[in-house]
Amino acid sequence: MTAPLRNDPATVKVALGDRSYDIVIGRGLIGSLGARIAALRPGAKAAIVTDENVARCHLPAVESALAAAGVPTSRVIVPVGEGSKSFGGFEQVCEAIIAARIERGDLVIALGGGVIGDLAGFAASAVRRGIDYMQVPTSLLAQVDSSVGGKTAINSAHGKNLIGAFYQPILVLADTAALDTLPQREFRAGYAEVAKYGLLGDAAFFSWLEANWRDVFKGGPAREHAIAVSCRAKAAIVARDEREIGDRALLNLGHTFGHALEAACGFSERLLHGEAVAAGMALAFGFSARLGLISAAEAERAIRHLDQVGLPTRPKDIPGGLPSVDRLMDLIAQDKKVKRGMLTFVLVRAIGSAFVESGIDTQDVRAFLSEKLTEQ
Ligand SMILES: NC(=O)c1ccc[n+]([C@@H]2O[C@H](COP(=O)([O-])OP(=O)(O)OC[C@H]3O[C@@H](n4cnc5c(N)ncnc54)[C@H](O)[C@@H]3O)[C@@H](O)[C@H]2O)c1
Ligand SMILES: [Zn+2]
Repeated sequence: MTAPLRNDPATVKVALGDRSYDIVIGRGLIGSLGARIAALRPGAKAAIVTDENVARCHLPAVESALAAAGVPTSRVIVPVGEGSKSFGGFEQVCEAIIAARIERGDLVIALGGGVIGDLAGFAASAVRRGIDYMQVPTSLLAQVDSSVGGKTAINSAHGKNLIGAFYQPILVLADTAALDTLPQREFRAGYAEVAKYGLLGDAAFFSWLEANWRDVFKGGPAREHAIAVSCRAKAAIVARDEREIGDRALLNLGHTFGHALEAACGFSERLLHGEAVAAGMALAFGFSARLGLISAAEAERAIRHLDQVGLPTRPKDIPGGLPSVDRLMDLIAQDKKVKRGMLTFVLVRAIGSAFVESGIDTQDVRAFLSEKLTEQ
């Protein structure tokens, strides 16, 4: 884990048979995108899907890289935010791809955060029954999580990500310099998912993060290293369990509590996804300690790091307050099916050692949460 830090791009392979692809990570890689497209899909046209913020910061560089390599481009720019992961956003993107005469053999490029990756990936899976696409993730969350693994989706009135497909990209190009324009709060929220990989399966990486997180935030080789380790961790899990029948569920560490907190805040700016995951992981560690699976000191160590980087870890850290324990339990039950009063949770035996436990009594969760809600 203390491998030498370099400035060369790092490549992580996602091994999925004939759907295998590379994740390339490095500073300034956007400049090489055109040449990579020309090499992988000679003669292809590309439709670039992005949002208004990312278009302002990074679309010119992407367009000129493609122009320099002779790749004809078109663009579709959707409004910023989760609202674009909707039927309306999907229609806009699909119609624009078709209008640009993108055919099989051409490419869709998802340039943006997780919203764009999910939306453009799903549109690529559907237009002409499937057009190849590349992910050019520009948020930290997208670079370490949403761009890897092929889950694409839009939201339904009934809930998030309910309409989608497993559809793998042909390349993920993570330009770590793109993160320089990302608001600090978004970066920090994405960092929760980076810490998650250490907490769920890699104690040495977690120790490295404790020592080096400031450099990850600053940029430079530590940032690339953290992103590469995160992608490698996710790629390994996805390669074992592409469709989340088993192991992939480990990636949900902190997400059962986290989703309930996110829903309680109305999926608003009040609590970003990564912030909810940080608070959710703190609860998962606290709950594991309560069940006697992990020592209180070890749980405290995990929580302390999340605290230190400025992520919320306690209900009182969440601005605007939280609803009652009854409401939170309802939200948990909506997210996860309750079978005979039992819930499935990702719990921990140590930092770096998470496991899936399906026999968790809802009453134990309720008792734990009501205590946490009253803590000051
Ligand atoms: N497919 C998956 O496996 C998976 C996994 C996790 C999350 N997700 C999805 O990802 C989405 C969240 O992703 P997100 O946090 O990246 O949200 P996002 O795409 O909305 O990006 C966050 C904000 O940062 C801005 N932004 C992005 N890159 C920027 C840059 N380089 N410079 C300046 N601003 C920039 C965006 O415009 C937006 O305002 C959710 O919809 C979630 O469901 C999917
Ligand atoms: Zn997440």
